[in-house]
Amino acid sequence: MPTDSFDLQPNATPTASPIREDILKNPGFGRYFTDHMAHVRWTLDAGWHGREVRPYGPLTLDPAAAVLHYAQEIFEGIKAYRHADGSVWTFRPEKNAERFRRSAHRLALPELSDADFIGSLKALLAQDHAWVPTPKSAADECSLYLRPFMIASEKFLGVRPAHEVDYYVIASPAAAYFKGGVEPVSIWLSSHYNRAAPGGTGFAKCGGNYAASLAAQKEASAHDCGQVAFLDARENKWIEELGGMNLFFVFKDGRIATPRLTDTILEGVTRDSVLTLARDEGLSPEERPISIDEWREGAASGEITEVFACGTAAVITPVGELVTEEGRIRLTAGSDNPIAKRLRTKLLDLQYGRAEDTHGWLTKL
Ligand code: COI
Repeated sequence: MPTDSFDLQPNATPTASPIREDILKNPGFGRYFTDHMAHVRWTLDAGWHGREVRPYGPLTLDPAAAVLHYAQEIFEGIKAYRHADGSVWTFRPEKNAERFRRSAHRLALPELSDADFIGSLKALLAQDHAWVPTPKSAADECSLYLRPFMIASEKFLGVRPAHEVDYYVIASPAAAYFKGGVEPVSIWLSSHYNRAAPGGTGFAKCGGNYAASLAAQKEASAHDCGQVAFLDARENKWIEELGGMNLFFVFKDGRIATPRLTDTILEGVTRDSVLTLARDEGLSPEERPISIDEWREGAASGEITEVFACGTAAVITPVGELVTEEGRIRLTAGSDNPIAKRLRTKLLDLQYGRAEDTHGWLTKL
């Protein structure tokens, strides 16, 4: 889908460049937004139409819009990176487009083509490229975080798939997701709450999954933890994910492992990339069930030397400890997280164009 198939309504009062430059110095995560947003409308009769890039601003939604009542909504997270020559690239967008269609199917929303998904990112970036921050060093993970999302906008209170849907992309300059940057995060083990159940929506990126994680996230914050580890709903035994990111374990003998995908785990693009980069490094990563007992015992005995979280927002962030109602379990060995750091550097070098893109993962925006 060429960019020019999106009609442009330029923002007549864009952010002044000194203000934008000031924001880009310290953007935090998800606090500031660019001057435009992309939009495509879908109706049962006309399909996808009305492609446009228009000024960023509040949406007008009928109070009876289905999304407000039945949470028929999905989203994605993907970043734009500025390379040293000033060009702007994104990472594996076809993986996000594919996952967006899987999520759409599960939430009974219409599926969006790769051409519209990637075309909408390109059309937005054609206007807002100045909002992509320039990294100050190889450790700087600043980027423009892109948030495509789709909502059921039909005014109708009957419970059925909506006949009117809107797709948008908004963009937000971003620094590290966690306040401490790459400092190891503490993880709270949720013993009261599960995130997803078999046959449910766990594998889909829908707002409802994140809403369901918030009560546990409140408990985590009360225990000074940045994230929550969720166990499976059937046995309360198998590690699934952190709600907003996937988990990897590194063992004393150099093996690395991540929970095998099920329909209760979101398939992360970063997770998949880490598996490939680990293979490139000769690490033979495993995808298999990992129990909470294996984590507890491995951390206590020193068998597990590192744990790390990965996701688009989190990149690769070491986990320093697991906090449970019984107490804190620190990782005994490997406190400087060499494998997590090595994989993180490889991933960032690739994303920022400092390493050769041997897998063909980058797309120019
Ligand atoms: C992402 O990594 O893009 C997510 O959607 C997760 C969320 C914690 C920001």
